[in-house]
Amino acid sequence: MNTPAETDMLASKDEGQENALDRVLVLEMVRVTEAAAVAAAQLVGRGDEKAADAAAVEAMRRAFDTLYMDGTVVIGEGERDEAPMLYIGEKVGGAPGKGPKIDIALDPLEGTTITAKAGPNALAVLAAAEEGCLLNAPDTYMDKIAVGPGYPEGVIDLAKSPTNNVKAVAAAKGVEPGDIIICVLDRPRHADMIAELRALGCGVVLIGDGDVAGVIAVTDEETNIDMYMGQGGAPEGVLAAAALRCVGGQFNGRLVFRNEDEKARARKWGITEFDRIYKLEELASGDCIFAATGVTQGSLLDGVKRRRKPTGETIMTTDSVVMRASSGTVRWIRGEHKV
Ligand code: FBP
Repeated sequence: MNTPAETDMLASKDEGQENALDRVLVLEMVRVTEAAAVAAAQLVGRGDEKAADAAAVEAMRRAFDTLYMDGTVVIGEGERDEAPMLYIGEKVGGAPGKGPKIDIALDPLEGTTITAKAGPNALAVLAAAEEGCLLNAPDTYMDKIAVGPGYPEGVIDLAKSPTNNVKAVAAAKGVEPGDIIICVLDRPRHADMIAELRALGCGVVLIGDGDVAGVIAVTDEETNIDMYMGQGGAPEGVLAAAALRCVGGQFNGRLVFRNEDEKARARKWGITEFDRIYKLEELASGDCIFAATGVTQGSLLDGVKRRRKPTGETIMTTDSVVMRASSGTVRWIRGEHKV
């Protein structure tokens, strides 16, 4: 007897679905990020990054088991010896050996410090793609630059200086360089770049953490942010690239290695060109899905809220987005969860 998910999956196969990312999975992915966000939300503002992350990881792991897929974590919580769950290489999903083979990049709690301090823009996020379509980025840093949709291909180039990139984007937009607004992680390592951008007259939006949301902000006109620049986590770079594949925009990323150990890790995942600049399609190729649920209030999504209904029931509300590259469909999903 098939489970409802299996029945749906088989039915859609009969209809001739073209790839492993069956439509059933698109919406199902939101359940996974919702579960992680609700779990982490119980620990917002409690000052304990590790506990919030652990709660999100455990909830995400359990939620994956309800999905009809043969998933493999390609970007996760770390390597097998350093993460008890959702480690790189771990099999997830309720149909190992039977369901569609899916590669998963995840960050059950993107913004652990944000969550501990009840700051803005913490998210539960994942990207899913057909086997071999996501760069198996090691847990190093990545230099990143991004713009939203509508610019000529190649308008940004990580090989060029911040000044030249701003000038190119300004020219394409038909404005002065000083009109360009750039989102940057507030870190001492970015001091020179921030000074360079401010010398051009640009507005610099400094964020404390959470550069997945920072990159995605370039795709949302309401944020007024034109570009993202700077160095953040490489796994977060692949997740953000998957989102941009779905909604449009351009992204360049270059892995940054601090020591030989990090290079050895990269070699393990088949990376040998250490100074290569990866474009969007080289980070996330083929069809892919990006799903995120807000943990704390943010520019992209509302945070999880606890509410008492007039009926006396207590519920948690979640705000999520799920996107698919092949169709370009973006769904905003509001959930109510009984507690
Ligand atoms: P965590 O959720 O792992 O704390 O990551 C938050 C984050 O701000 C990412 O969004 C970003 O890519 C990375 O940390 C930057 O790293 P660092 O804090 O070391 O500068």
